[in-house]
Amino acid sequence: MLHRRWFPDHIDGTKVVLRRHTRDNLSDFMRWYQDPDVARLTRYQDGPMRPDEIERFFTMRAMGQDSLAMGIHIRPSGQIIGSCAFSQLDADNGSVLFHITIGEHDAWGRGYGSEATALMVDHAFTSLGLHRVALSVFAFNERAIHAYERVGFTVEGRAREAIWRDGRWWDELHMSVLEPEWRSARWHARAIADGRAGQSPAKPQPAPASRE
Ligand SMILES: CC(C)(COP(=O)(O)OP(=O)(O)OC[C@H]1O[C@@H](n2cnc3c(N)ncnc32)[C@H](O)[C@@H]1OP(=O)(O)O)[C@@H](O)C(=O)NCCC(=O)NCCS
Repeated sequence: MLHRRWFPDHIDGTKVVLRRHTRDNLSDFMRWYQDPDVARLTRYQDGPMRPDEIERFFTMRAMGQDSLAMGIHIRPSGQIIGSCAFSQLDADNGSVLFHITIGEHDAWGRGYGSEATALMVDHAFTSLGLHRVALSVFAFNERAIHAYERVGFTVEGRAREAIWRDGRWWDELHMSVLEPEWRSARWHARAIADGRAGQSPAKPQPAPASRE
């Protein structure tokens, strides 16, 4: 279980702030997880969870002691748009599983998910001292895969034809990022967290030519 010290009240980014969930967020979870489009991207089952399942999921994943879950709030309005979490913390082996859902459609594709992911991964490596963050994603979820790759995750394996969706089989991809990779790609990761994505790191300036 995570000590409170390792579970901050908030983690601040440029576009988003991650905050610990409160009981009030249940109504947002109800809306997000009854949405068929969110269910299509996140569930093996065909169709959304029932309200009683959502309530159980909220109690366990968002409020439970066995996961580190944060609401994703847009800056500066503070509106909550989704949730991200670590589960299955394996302290002996320094690894954890990452999950994220932005439940508000109009918040997709605006960089919020990449930044929230970068903030969580940074927290895992710099504050929690972990070695590995892993996740799984359906192969048809191109937006998610793109966002994860942008943060530094790479595909390490796949469960072949693990899900039947939209009339065909799809693989489930297993992705991970390791702490040494994160450290060496830190500039890029910080750029996402600071809203500077797309820029290049400043090139070291050559020493002035000596006339001696
Ligand atoms: C997956 C998710 C967290 C990504 O967050 P996001 O804020 O929408 O994504 P971002 O804007 O940060 O990044 C998306 C990237 O994919 C690209 N992208 C957007 N739509 C895309 C699409 N349909 N296909 C491929 N790439 C796409 C964007 O251009 C962006 O890349 P770029 O910054 O290099 O241009 C969010 O969309 C979400 O929660 N979706 C619903 C639930 C879900 O899929 N959860 C993940 C389950 S594993």
